[in-house]
Amino acid sequence: MQFTGAHILSIEQFERSDIERVFQVADSMEPYAQRRKVTRVLEGAILGNMFFEPSTRTRVSFGAAFNLLGGEVRETTGFQSTAIAKGESLYDTARVLSGYSDVICMRHPQSGSVAEFAAASRVPVINGGDGSNEHPSQALLDLYTIRKELIASGRGVDGLRIAMIGDLKFGRTVHSLCKLLCLYRDIQVTLVSPTELAMPEQLVEELRAAGHQVLVSEDLAGGIGHVDIAYSTRIQEERFTSREEANLYRGRFRLNQAIYTQYCEPNTVIMHPLPRDSREDANELDNDLNLNPNLAIFRQADNGVLVRMALFALILDVVEQVDRFARPVNWYSGRE
Ligand code: NCD
Repeated sequence: MQFTGAHILSIEQFERSDIERVFQVADSMEPYAQRRKVTRVLEGAILGNMFFEPSTRTRVSFGAAFNLLGGEVRETTGFQSTAIAKGESLYDTARVLSGYSDVICMRHPQSGSVAEFAAASRVPVINGGDGSNEHPSQALLDLYTIRKELIASGRGVDGLRIAMIGDLKFGRTVHSLCKLLCLYRDIQVTLVSPTELAMPEQLVEELRAAGHQVLVSEDLAGGIGHVDIAYSTRIQEERFTSREEANLYRGRFRLNQAIYTQYCEPNTVIMHPLPRDSREDANELDNDLNLNPNLAIFRQADNGVLVRMALFALILDVVEQVDRFARPVNWYSGRE
């Protein structure tokens, strides 16, 4: 694909070679993300960060990634603080805001809304999650994490065994991840969810058409038994008609250290797009896993900065210039 000036709306835009390119650029961003060097390559550029749904990681890491490349961030959160609350259309909002920004990241509760916005935008738009549809940058950072976590044991993404657990119906991160896995070979995907929250049939068919083995289960213990990655997800309460309806499913599949020890292979890596729902009635990923070295959730979140820096550098066509605008950091940076 041509990255320069591109919108990033869906994983369907990517070929395998594009993914490898994103990961290669993400690797090169490590000295900056780890505060060993600073670069001003995007000095003067503005990111319009527009988040119409709650977000911590995606919003802040997109912003941090842009700042780490030397750019500025302008942010809007929630409908009430924008003219959309006065009836302004997505079209008008896109025409106006794209005049103030060089690139826009947007999250919106409606499937397809970010693509609609992008069609009217004068600058590239990145989908930060559109309803239950897609979350492409999350899938990229998830696969980047999978690749990194498996390198230690000499394995790659081809031949991967992964369990996706929880709300597979409304979870946009697993939707994008399934599409991404279709670009790879010989993958075994175990889908563990309540029947009512099963992975959409279309995505299951796409996985099968890619030659992957898909197993569907309602049994957590069996599902996580022989996998490299156990990818847990939160019940997407905001997509249900009421909290009571979400309650029917909350807490159904809980992974904790005792279950991990009993059923998982010793090196199974635990992932979650976060936030994990730590309320007592949910708790899909227990805090007692925090000291488990195979809990990759915070490494996964850190990787989001690298992948998002890579997307900005590619879209704004500065990959080859990043190091030219670099210098050592001035401050104490004692991070690991
Ligand atoms: C996810 C999302 O918003 O889709 N969070 C994220 O971006 N890391 C998952 C979730 O909210 O459960």
